Amino acid sequence: MKIAIVGYGVVGRGTHELLLMNSQQIAARAGKPIEVKYVLDTKDLAGTPAEGLAAANMDAILADPEVELVVEAIGGVGPAYTFVKAALESGRHVVTPNKQLVAEKGAELLDIARQKNVGFLFEASVAGGTPVLHPIYQCLAANQLDMAAGILNGTTNYILTKMVQEGADFAATLKTAQQLGYAEADPTADIEGIDACRKVCVLASLLFGRHTPPEKVFTQGITNITAADVAAADKAGYRIKLIGQARKMQDGKVLCMVTPALLRKTHRMAEVNDVFNAVTVHGNGVGDVLFYGRGAGDLPTASAVLSDVMEIARKGGNIDLVYWEDMGADHLANRLDYSIDALVRVKNYSFEEMQARLDNCELIDQSGDELAVLVRGVNEGVLEDFVSLIGAAPYIRVFDC
Ligand code: HSE
Repeated sequence: MKIAIVGYGVVGRGTHELLLMNSQQIAARAGKPIEVKYVLDTKDLAGTPAEGLAAANMDAILADPEVELVVEAIGGVGPAYTFVKAALESGRHVVTPNKQLVAEKGAELLDIARQKNVGFLFEASVAGGTPVLHPIYQCLAANQLDMAAGILNGTTNYILTKMVQEGADFAATLKTAQQLGYAEADPTADIEGIDACRKVCVLASLLFGRHTPPEKVFTQGITNITAADVAAADKAGYRIKLIGQARKMQDGKVLCMVTPALLRKTHRMAEVNDVFNAVTVHGNGVGDVLFYGRGAGDLPTASAVLSDVMEIARKGGNIDLVYWEDMGADHLANRLDYSIDALVRVKNYSFEEMQARLDNCELIDQSGDELAVLVRGVNEGVLEDFVSLIGAAPYIRVFDC
């Protein structure tokens, strides 16, 4: 099968390299050899494995009837969306690790793929090389799934790990994550939780069969997390992780968000460190299932991209189980309606006063005029009002699913 790789950055090139590295085994398992016929990128490909394969533009790729599949690895929505749509409409299969594209345009692109009877697969878009999406729609298909939640961004997990273990500086650690090829082109997407939000949206859409728009998902990153938060969490018996969650609540609504969260040190995801991702999925038959592995980087992501390419090479056509529709966002819950436990750090406020206002409070630490207090079973709307009224630092919720 002849394919084209559009976008030859970390993931595009990694995909090509892994294909060349394991070509015989890949051919045997895919049922046919897989060959990169074209690479499209604005940069000079001389000296790369793609030397001599440069395509003039997307039209040139789509004009070649030999090309059956396009790997889109540009990222973002602009040209990536135009190219993917054109490829699907021309009857080409598409594989992509592009979580923004899938999160924002997945319903529309899946619909085109279905109409054209071609594959549109994106295993690498969530948790990089760690298989999560296929297990959800294949191995766990007999379950009613009500939760997918976890550590979905390698860059922020790498930074938090270095802050906790080595007291490392935020900016320097981010720079290392960029050098290692973990971070997005604009790392704001990582540290502000936007990348994790897109992945949660893909998970939620797949789990619940309804498009979950990123702009409707409450998203906080890690830029406000301080050494004092890390120390207070530690004292209370928790680790701080950036957690993305999509959970069906008892009222049937889907609670979807990305926030820093406290995980008990004994929680199965508390020791997921460095660039590793972990996702817990809960089904009514199977209970909890934990997926763990590398969430970013060239070859780990290429591993997932190529397995999608191989699946399409074997099966061809539309893969029916992967589908969701855009029916608005009225399935989403308002986080302020639910009860949470949270760590609150306040200044110039007495513990007794806090206890009087919020009921179930436990003093974790007191240093000068600063308190760290664990509040249990509080309505999030009430807590948010309280915190903004007294000008306290953002609270950090407990995640105990
Ligand atoms: N920037 C992303 C991360 C890459 O750090 O997880 C993988 O999606």
